[in-house]
Amino acid sequence: MRFVCLLIAAAVLHAQEWHGYGGGPQGLRYSPLKQINQSNVARLQIAWTYDTADGNTASQTQPIMIEGVVYGLTTKHDVIALDAGTGRLLWKFSSGITGRGANRAVVYWSEGEEKRIFASVQSFIYAIDAKTGKGIPGFGNNGRIDLRENLGRDPQKQSIALTSPGIIYKDLLICGDRTPESLPAPPGDIRAYDVRTGKLRWSFHTIPHPGEPGYETWPKDAWTYTGAANNWAGMALDEKRGIVYVPTGSAAGDFYGADRKGDNLYANCLLALNAATGERIWHFQAVKHDIWDRDFPSPPTLVTVKHNGKLVDAVAQTTKQGFVYLFNRVTGEPLFPIEAKKYPASTMPGEQAAETQVLPTKPAPYARQKLTEDMLTNRTPEAHAWALEQFRKLRSDGQFVPLSAGQETVIFPGFDGGAEWGGSAFDPQTGLLYVNANDLPWTSGLAANAAKKSSRDLYLTSCGTCHGDSLQGAPPQIPALTDLNGKRTVEQILTVIRQGAGRMPAFPGLTAEASTAIARYILSGEAKEMASSGPPTGNQAYRFTGYHKFLDPDGYPAVVPPWGTLNAINLNTGEYAWKIPLGEYPELAAKGLKDTGTENYGGPIVTAGGLVFISATNYDRKIRAFDKSTGKLLWEALLPLAGNTTPITYEWQGKQYLVIHATGGKAGNKGPSGGIYVAFALPGK
Ligand code: HEC
Repeated sequence: MRFVCLLIAAAVLHAQEWHGYGGGPQGLRYSPLKQINQSNVARLQIAWTYDTADGNTASQTQPIMIEGVVYGLTTKHDVIALDAGTGRLLWKFSSGITGRGANRAVVYWSEGEEKRIFASVQSFIYAIDAKTGKGIPGFGNNGRIDLRENLGRDPQKQSIALTSPGIIYKDLLICGDRTPESLPAPPGDIRAYDVRTGKLRWSFHTIPHPGEPGYETWPKDAWTYTGAANNWAGMALDEKRGIVYVPTGSAAGDFYGADRKGDNLYANCLLALNAATGERIWHFQAVKHDIWDRDFPSPPTLVTVKHNGKLVDAVAQTTKQGFVYLFNRVTGEPLFPIEAKKYPASTMPGEQAAETQVLPTKPAPYARQKLTEDMLTNRTPEAHAWALEQFRKLRSDGQFVPLSAGQETVIFPGFDGGAEWGGSAFDPQTGLLYVNANDLPWTSGLAANAAKKSSRDLYLTSCGTCHGDSLQGAPPQIPALTDLNGKRTVEQILTVIRQGAGRMPAFPGLTAEASTAIARYILSGEAKEMASSGPPTGNQAYRFTGYHKFLDPDGYPAVVPPWGTLNAINLNTGEYAWKIPLGEYPELAAKGLKDTGTENYGGPIVTAGGLVFISATNYDRKIRAFDKSTGKLLWEALLPLAGNTTPITYEWQGKQYLVIHATGGKAGNKGPSGGIYVAFALPGK
């Protein structure tokens, strides 16, 4: 009991605030507030809203609240400061650059009277005076740093954006980045900058240079040409011990690794780094030589659990595969045994899959692991018959089966997970971890690139991975490019190729000639021969055929529900406390098909008021409160846009608020997107 009080005392340092992304450096997504609780949550009402109204792509931002000010981002990545009690705009900072897509939070730092906000726009990080909203010219190069620099490669040719915020340790801002997922891609160095000057203080090479440990897990020159192994999902920090926990993603290209033979440390790793120096303390690699894009998709959560009768400071890390890994925070020892299992070899020329992968024995996965015939949709007899016919053409053998050419392989849970970037919430009072998950299969394969290049081949190599072999995209996440003729000019497409758009990286490495040929191909559908550059080799020999969700002809997952879930896992025992479907398709619910669960992006928070708040669902635009010990629904409200972000809660002038940034953006043509901050509170408080 005494211990629990200590723990909660640590969590309540900024009890009234939401002091940073994920609630603070530990990423607990926990609040000790309880004015809003199980007995009154049903009476929540909208207190204020603020519509950023400046564009139509969702920024996935979780705001923060410090000293009565809510700091957030607009859809164009302008920074806004709002009065926490009224939602009134206090100031707005525009960098002059129009950002697009994910930008998950700003970062706050203060010392004495000096108070700064750090905000990223594309490859830049700006320092802003938190009181006035004015840029700080003395920081970096005239107020900003450029993440493309200091990578040992030509900065002009790097495509980088900071999509999840960095973390503050003393006077350091520690950052990862998002890079392209196919070559060329910059290396995913983890970097720490001086909060006052913007000077680079340390770098950790996730793709080791000669002489650094892990270098032997790559071909000898890989560090000069390969890329990614980056931290895009955010980090967590043990402030007391000075250890930063950094989950990384796969190396580029995501699905074929002929020119990166070996285990590829420190891709797909949970890294524990000395926050002051960047030195590695320990690491755990979840996927060796990843050829499935099994990035660690969420920030870690720093927890304390009761294990074999002792209290252990641990780090919990969720995955796309549906696993929770739990490690001793100091030693990196797993708290539940981890088992190595053998997996099939790759049938692709030049490819060498790892013989084994490691999986936790506990907790059980929170998403299904293998698609079988008895799991195919029964929504209608037609949908079932269609799914059965498709299924018989697919290879479905569970996790870690290498993709092949000529047949699609089932990836379940899909390429997006499993767990997502919203992160998980931990309740220090009970030891329960709350994880929301997607639970639908996707499929894909590989195809040989042509020896003689046409503009269509250029398209297939650079763009087909996402937009598909026949420009069909993978809506809603990735738009189709089929009907752009008449709507977009070659110039407009060139701008998108040069600058990137949302989740689409920029392609600074494509020549003007190649980009123009691709743009013309997209608009005309006609392939033009290009000057021959010889047969494709190494990584260029095969390409990914695209992200194919296994959906029935009506657009619903071709597997039986649940399609999305919320899970409460007791980290002391590794057992589930409860598990429920999360979300609905309104049109199916109206016909009686309720509680199917749906895809969901954005995470939960948990409070001392006995509540788990989560929105996240793609299609029903709801935010919900559940009884944290049973999973019983206690309240729900309709949002103006789907709440594809993680909410926050804080108290200001005696009143507790629940704020969600409603953005939409994950439902494609099933729903609009934008950026509206919505605050709820109890009436009359
Ligand atoms: C990693 C996946 C990915 C790759 C690779 C990719 N795109 Fe995209 N693309 C996207 C996404 C996601 C969007 C939607 C972005 C947004 O609006 O937020 C998009 C948007 C676009 C658009 C805008 C569509 C419109 O309606 O205006 C064009 C044009 C486009 N991409 C062309 C390309 C071309 C050309 C390439 C190759 C050089 C390419 N893309 C490579 C993911 C990708």
